[in-house]
Amino acid sequence: MKEKIYLSSDHAGCKLKNNVKKYLEDKGYEIVDLGTNNETESVSYAEFGKKLAESVLNTPNSYGIGFCGTGLGISYSVNRYKGIRGARVTSVEDAELAKKHNNANILLLGGRQMSKFKTKRIINKFFSTEYEGGRHQNRIDELDK
Ligand code: RB5
Repeated sequence: MKEKIYLSSDHAGCKLKNNVKKYLEDKGYEIVDLGTNNETESVSYAEFGKKLAESVLNTPNSYGIGFCGTGLGISYSVNRYKGIRGARVTSVEDAELAKKHNNANILLLGGRQMSKFKTKRIINKFFSTEYEGGRHQNRIDELDK
């Protein structure tokens, strides 16, 4: 079964979020859109990051993808939560290693910086990569101590 994926963005990430939503729904993923759905009304990445982190933490085996202008602000927001490993990625290699070594459960992307084409490649790499476990697990456990 495909993973459940929560999507969340501020106004600056809204357009890319909506594009990703359609792309992932067409691929058969179960998507929950936490908003925002207005590109012109300014909202806070802190609030939408909080919603995203809490949703992922409350749903076993789920993932999140968060968007703001750069992906930075919303990454700060989600990474305040124990159990969240939010990776702000800008390359396909980042996406691969974020899963393989860090077992990231949220991806953060810059809606004002990332092309649709690169975003799709990043997302495909992330969801087709397995977490390696082994030596990486102790380090991950340390994060939440
Ligand atoms: C909003 O204008 C912008 O500052 C925000 O989306 C984000 O890029 C912050 O990190």
